[in-house]
Amino acid sequence: MKNYHPLLVTLHWLLAVMILVGLVMGGSVLSATANSNPDKIFFLKMHMSAGLVILIFMLIRLGVRFATKSPPPADIGNNLLNKLGAITHYLLYLIVILMSASGLAIAASAGLFEIVFGTSSAILPVNFDEFPPRAAHGIISKILMLLIAGHIGAFLYHQYIRKDKLLSRMWFGKRM
Ligand code: HEM
Repeated sequence: MKNYHPLLVTLHWLLAVMILVGLVMGGSVLSATANSNPDKIFFLKMHMSAGLVILIFMLIRLGVRFATKSPPPADIGNNLLNKLGAITHYLLYLIVILMSASGLAIAASAGLFEIVFGTSSAILPVNFDEFPPRAAHGIISKILMLLIAGHIGAFLYHQYIRKDKLLSRMWFGKRM
């Protein structure tokens, strides 16, 4: 077994792009736009929709990951680092799911679904600071950024120091 299942590969790269865009746009455009700005509803609509799609894709990916055969775990000759690599991958799943869950919790507690997607004519609160999931969403986003930086660091290590072309497993190719 050399490569991951093509559906896992497709979802990996789709999620990589969507999560990076979600982090950058959420941290810059969305949270920097005052709730009184008329554009805010549009930004929220985009962000919440993308966040929900990310959650669905992530859950599908997790299911496919367990339902299909994967290449053997990478061995870099150090038990501790091997374990750290495996744990980091599970943490990435968990943190992305928590990211979406905390976003959903902000939306539920601030009545955003009715305001953004529904017919409610209620106005947005001055900001989301009064809702505890908002602080969690911000903290989880920083943890996710750190995990992604570690993930990219591991890729660079494999690609340029160990030169083992590990990334080719996350691309389309022969599976046998
Ligand atoms: C993996 C998916 C998601 C990512 C990567 C993401 C990313 C972010 C980031 C980086 C911020 C700004 C955090 C800060 O600077 O403190 C943010 C804010 C926010 N996100 Fe998400 N988010 C995701 C999913 C969701 C979902 C599913 C919802 C709602 C259904 C949501 C609703 C919000 C709201 C309401 C804010 C606050 C905006 C403000 O303070 O004006 N997010 N998100």
